[in-house]
Amino acid sequence: MKKILLINGPNLNRLGMREPHIYGSVRLADVERSLTEFAETQNALLECFQSNHEGAIIDAIHDAEGKYDGIVMNPAAFTHYSYAIRDAIAGVTVPVVEIHISNIHTREEFRHTSVIAPVTIGQIVGLGVYGYKLALLAMLEHLGGNLDE
Ligand code: DQA
Repeated sequence: MKKILLINGPNLNRLGMREPHIYGSVRLADVERSLTEFAETQNALLECFQSNHEGAIIDAIHDAEGKYDGIVMNPAAFTHYSYAIRDAIAGVTVPVVEIHISNIHTREEFRHTSVIAPVTIGQIVGLGVYGYKLALLAMLEHLGGNLDE
């Protein structure tokens, strides 16, 4: 059974309450619960972590080494400028899929760049919270695939 860590970055603890016209009205706890249940149907184990703090996210990436097969991550605003998170990902062997709820490419200029993307296996963008499911499936496929079983 594959073990996947879901990491959500700053302000995503307020998902569902925060700018619902951009991020929708589903709360993070509901996303985490339904993704955990979905993971079980895919014969995977999902654990969830959210932090508003860059260092805590870096620690979680380091600690994932040897414990998780993959990381699904929405780095939130850190996406656009955290070389420290990028280096943390580059420094572990655990593969990462990046996910954004909104379409960062249609929004403000500063959101168009992800400093994280070059150290991930891929990015899911702009498909709402459904993107978390797609990101998880993409990770499981990357890890050896159980989609056609
Ligand atoms: C986000 C996009 C980021 O630009 C923003 O800072 C977020 C959320 C998204 O999921 O669409 O906090 O990562």
